[in-house]
Amino acid sequence: MSVLSETVTVLPEAATLTLRPQNGTPNGNETNGTATEAKKVETEESYKYAHLVPFFSPQTYAPLTPFEHVDPGHRALSHPDPRSFLQNATRVTEIQPVLGTEIEGIQLTQLTNDERDQLALYVAQRGLVVFRDQGDFIDRGVDWYREWGSHFGRLHIHPTSGHPENAAEIHLVYRDANSTYNFEYDDVITSTVWHTDVSYELQPPGLTTFFLLAQPTTGGDTLFASSVAALKRLSPQFVAFLKTLKAVHSGVEQANFSRAGKRGGIVRREPVEHIHPVVRRHPVTGEDALYVNRQFTSRIVGLKKEESNNILNFLYDHLAKGADSQARVKWTPNTVVLWDNRVTSHSAIIDYADSKERRHGARITPQAERPIPALEGLEL
Ligand SMILES: [Fe+2]
Repeated sequence: MSVLSETVTVLPEAATLTLRPQNGTPNGNETNGTATEAKKVETEESYKYAHLVPFFSPQTYAPLTPFEHVDPGHRALSHPDPRSFLQNATRVTEIQPVLGTEIEGIQLTQLTNDERDQLALYVAQRGLVVFRDQGDFIDRGVDWYREWGSHFGRLHIHPTSGHPENAAEIHLVYRDANSTYNFEYDDVITSTVWHTDVSYELQPPGLTTFFLLAQPTTGGDTLFASSVAALKRLSPQFVAFLKTLKAVHSGVEQANFSRAGKRGGIVRREPVEHIHPVVRRHPVTGEDALYVNRQFTSRIVGLKKEESNNILNFLYDHLAKGADSQARVKWTPNTVVLWDNRVTSHSAIIDYADSKERRHGARITPQAERPIPALEGLEL
């Protein structure tokens, strides 16, 4: 690690945010050396979550290693009442018929392990579950976040994003009047980028938890789409063809975005590419879902470029335009959202930039199994 001598700028009262070099390393996966100096977003001391702003560690990480994922949702399948965790809820509202449920009256921090298993199954079935009034969850801090997420799988450590200092397992998004640490381009006509998180990994995420520590007064909603419902809209003949296909998912563009100096400008683990089935089967529900996304899927294996591009673009458009497979979440304060990245796509909406207000989010991202092909016997 480099030893730095820069003096720390004295900040004005307002939320002036700049990156400054930092010493120190986070707890993380195995390290593999030192890439560059650490950096950390600066914010005003009065900001309640100043201790959770993005930190960009100087460490580099070794490649992730495969592991056996045991999905907690399996345990709930044999439960006599797998929705008993909802018995004390004061309100349970289906957001849309095919995607999403909003729940009030339950404190996630009070769920037993048995109830967490039920929750994993429930999120797999509904694709998206929104819990309101979760201030206790949000305020418990990074040790709690880790403990929570570890119940659902091995916590993913992001190769490029910022994380709270000493909590590399927590992926952060951050934007304010002066800077952004989101994956966003300013030379496109919309901020909408449908994707499933880090699908380039060999074992991409399953049940994922996300919440905002600070949000704009209005805007910054998140879009979700059911990749199960979208698949069901397609003709059986076309689905049968899609099930024979596999696609390359690549982390190269995301890494290059950081290497260009954006979003903290640090790549801690070399980008990887992996091949996944175009239609994957959820290990617990057995449901099939489209598993391609414009952000990370680069090509369909074995097809000519025009064939691959046209099929992928058709599928991306289908997922993006099918409002009958979508839901939109508004982030009232203290909302915690869970979705299953195996069956649900999503996109941020950067429509609040003119307000100069802060949006600061944290994601807990357990990895799951290597995607299971819907077509039995498809070799990856
Ligand atoms: Fe995402």
